[in-house]
Amino acid sequence: MKGNSEVIAALNSLLTGELSAMDQYFVHAHMYEDWGFDELYTRILHESDDEKAHAAKLVQRILFLEGTPDVASREALNIGKDVEEMLKNDLNYEYAVADHLREVIALCEAKEDYQTREILEVLLDDTESDHMYWLEKQIRLIDRVGLQNYLQTKM
Ligand SMILES: [Fe+2]
Ligand SMILES: [Fe+2]
Repeated sequence: MKGNSEVIAALNSLLTGELSAMDQYFVHAHMYEDWGFDELYTRILHESDDEKAHAAKLVQRILFLEGTPDVASREALNIGKDVEEMLKNDLNYEYAVADHLREVIALCEAKEDYQTREILEVLLDDTESDHMYWLEKQIRLIDRVGLQNYLQTKM
């Protein structure tokens, strides 16, 4: 089915965001692994897989709309140098992705592409109630119990 060209371009820019998040989490996960924070390694590697699944949904939709998925582009990654900075960088990335999703959802509405909107709503739900929520909780835990105590629970 031929899709709206503005919607296809917007989906490609969301795809760049998902692939960039996938890469950032991939690197952060392996840094946690190297430092011995196995619990953070497992969780963040799972987040990287989630972003890959989001990217897959976008690629499928772009192809369905007879567009060409851009899988080569990336945004600048924000790799942290310690656990707290890594969690905060990841959270800021999720906030940016959520804002971007809201913009494209509004565009889909304006172009009457309701099915693409529905796909993006699922991505927004994962972003808000899973990724953002978990990261916000980690940062609040660090504030409450202190960084050293927090890190002791993540080995
Ligand atoms: Fe995502
Ligand atoms: Fe995410």
